[in-house]
Amino acid sequence: MDSTATEHAPVPPLNLAANFAELRDELLAEINELAASGMYILGPRTEAFEQNLARFAGAKFGLGVSSGTDALLCAMMALDIGPGDEVILPTFTFFATAGTVHRLGATPVFVDIRPDTYNTDVDQVAEKITPRTRAVVPVHLYGQAMAMRPLFDVVNRHGIAVIEDAAQAIGARIPDYPEHTAGAIGTLGALSFYPTKNLGAMGDAGAILTNDAKLLERCRKIRIHGSGHTYHHDMVGGNFRIDALQAVVLDIKLRRIEAWNTARRTVADRYRALLTEAGLVPEHLTLPHVAGQPDTHVYHQFILRATRRDDLLKHLRDQKIGAGVYYPVPLHQQKCFEHLGYKAGDLPQSERAAAEVLALPIYPELTEAQQARVVAAIRGFYASA
Ligand SMILES: Cc1ncc(COP(=O)(O)O)c(C=O)c1O
Repeated sequence: MDSTATEHAPVPPLNLAANFAELRDELLAEINELAASGMYILGPRTEAFEQNLARFAGAKFGLGVSSGTDALLCAMMALDIGPGDEVILPTFTFFATAGTVHRLGATPVFVDIRPDTYNTDVDQVAEKITPRTRAVVPVHLYGQAMAMRPLFDVVNRHGIAVIEDAAQAIGARIPDYPEHTAGAIGTLGALSFYPTKNLGAMGDAGAILTNDAKLLERCRKIRIHGSGHTYHHDMVGGNFRIDALQAVVLDIKLRRIEAWNTARRTVADRYRALLTEAGLVPEHLTLPHVAGQPDTHVYHQFILRATRRDDLLKHLRDQKIGAGVYYPVPLHQQKCFEHLGYKAGDLPQSERAAAEVLALPIYPELTEAQQARVVAAIRGFYASA
C-alpha cells in the first residue's frame, strides 16, 4: 500500500477477521474434532472451558450459558427475583442489565454513574435501598473494574445480593480484591462473549461466575428448564445452554486473553500520548480515567469525552473511522421505561455522559499507523472548527 492509501484506509471499529487469522489452524482443528464427536451442546469440552474460565477469573465456579443477557437473567432467576422486588442498577449501561430485571416482573431502580470512571455510584445505591431491594447490579463499564468493598459495605447489612455485570470487563482486576477479576467476587457475576467482546465467541455465548456451590447448582438447573434429571422439573428455568462449539472457541481464546488485554492497554496508552501531543487535551477531549492499577482496566472501549461530540462522530464516520457512542440514551430515558416516571435531569451524570462520550476503535490488532490516522482526523476536525 502506498502512503496515500494508508492515510485514507478505513479504520474499522474492530477486526474479527484478523483475530481469526491468528488462531485459524488451532480453531479449525478443534472445531473439526468437536464436529466429529457429535457432542454439540454442553458436554466435556464445555466443562473444561468452565473450569479454565473460573480459574482465570479467580472464582470457584463458572457456568457457560447462551449469552451475557441470559447470564444476568439466569442469575436473577437463581435468586428468585420477581414481582414486587426492586433491583438497583446504573442507568448508563447496555440495555440487558435492566431488560432482564423487567422481564422477571421486578422493578429496575436506576442510579447514576461516577463521572470519572463511568462506573456505578455506590453512594446513590445506599440512598435507593428500600425493604423491597433484592439485588444490586454494579456494571464494570467499558472494561474498568470498580472497587467492590464500598458496595459490599452498603449492601451486606441488608442481605442484598450483588450480581456483577462484567460483560465488558473479562480479566479486569478488581482494585480492592486483586485476586479476583470482574464478575468473580459478587454473589453471582455475568460475562458476555458476544463476538465484539474482549473474549468473543463465534456467535452468542456468556457465562456465570460464583463462589457459592448452591447457587451454581440452581443456575445449572435453570440453564436446562429447571431440570436436574431429564424430564423432571423442580423449578421453571429456560434454555440457557451454551453450544460446545462456542466453548471450544472460547477455551482456545482464553489462553490469549491476558496478552490481548495487555495489547489493548498498549493501544490505549498510545492514544493518550498521541491525543495529548496533538494538543487536544483538555481543551476538546477528556481522556479515560483509571482509578486503580493499570490492570484494573481492559479497555473493552476507549472512551473520550468530546466537545461537539455529534459533529466529531459524523466527521470520523465520513472518514471511515469506526467511532461509536455507548450509550446515547440512558435507560431511565428509554421509552419502554417511561412508566417508571423518571424525568430529564434525574440522573445528570449519565445524561451528560450520553451527550459527551465517544468510543475510538480499539483492539489488539490496531496498528500505530491506524491510530495516527484516527488522531489526525480528530485534530483536523477541531482545527477546522
Ligand atoms: C454491560 C452489558 N451487559 C450485558 C450485556 C449482554 O450480553 P449479550 O450481548 O452477550 O447478551 C452486554 C453486551 O452486549 C453488556 O455490554
